[in-house]
Amino acid sequence: MFPAVRPRRLRRTRLLRDLVRETALHPSDFVYPLFVRHDRGIKTEIAAMPGNYHFSVDRLVEEVQAAWEDGVRAVLLFGIPDRKDAEGSEAWNDEAAVQLGVRALRAALPDLVVITDVCLCEYTSHGHCGVVREGRVLNDPTLELLARAAVSHARAGADIVAPSDMMDGRVRAIREALDREGFADTVILSYAAKYASAFYGPFREAAGSAPQFGDRRSYQMDPGNADEAIREVGLDLEEGADIVMVKPALAYLDVVRRVKEAYRVPVAAYNVSGEYSMLVGAAERGWIERERAILEVLTSIRRAGADLILTYHAREAARLLR
Ligand code: PBG
Repeated sequence: MFPAVRPRRLRRTRLLRDLVRETALHPSDFVYPLFVRHDRGIKTEIAAMPGNYHFSVDRLVEEVQAAWEDGVRAVLLFGIPDRKDAEGSEAWNDEAAVQLGVRALRAALPDLVVITDVCLCEYTSHGHCGVVREGRVLNDPTLELLARAAVSHARAGADIVAPSDMMDGRVRAIREALDREGFADTVILSYAAKYASAFYGPFREAAGSAPQFGDRRSYQMDPGNADEAIREVGLDLEEGADIVMVKPALAYLDVVRRVKEAYRVPVAAYNVSGEYSMLVGAAERGWIERERAILEVLTSIRRAGADLILTYHAREAARLLR
């Protein structure tokens, strides 16, 4: 007559709900992405990503110290160069903004986990992630340049390098170069299953990295494919990746789940710029509740199987969880 099994019993009070919750968020699982450039005293808001900025190194350190106080323990740095060229040579300049930022953060916060994005698109005049010849993005000649950038980041003190270019074989090229140069302990977090996504739009404005011709579909993955993500992740693990990433996160939570179940290795998911701006934009219009939406989105990514989340919400979410 009456239901014997009543799932609602465990939802009656907040503490009962807390007691049986399966997935909890911890600030130590967040990675906070930041944009760093040369000069001093600069903190310029990025129009398409409200609440995110271009920082000069001094202001970057201030922001990360404040984020540390809020509970953030890891950051990911992107460089905004003063000059670009066809090869993207600023990527492996030991005095470039990212390298200076890494050194300054190492000095200010010795325990902070410092991750650097390894790619060429912010540094190339054409905006592609590799060497371009006759309108094509060439794979093998790009590997050596990515390896140089990764070694330069490791030399500056990065704990983790994160190649985001999607060239074939770059994890092996980077691992060999790091080992050869004495950086056997530098971790590789590979953007292993990175899709050609509309959700990178705000980032490309932030990084000034929109391709000047064509698009990234000849190297980033087709959104229709998930078996291929399993193959991509398998290759990166064979080549020496320590952590593998699925990107974007929200439109690819099925891929996060499948990668975790297939390999049982540390899996990262990137809650990208377009996902951030979509949420923040809707909240600004009063269409959704910002704080609840942030925690719900991040919980969904953890529940799908991600061990760590790269997210522009990192600092705010860490504060909310305190
Ligand atoms: C560089 C890179 C991109 C992002 C991270 N690294 C842009 C792209 O591939 O076009 C996107 C990050 C975001 O949208 O938040 N290759």
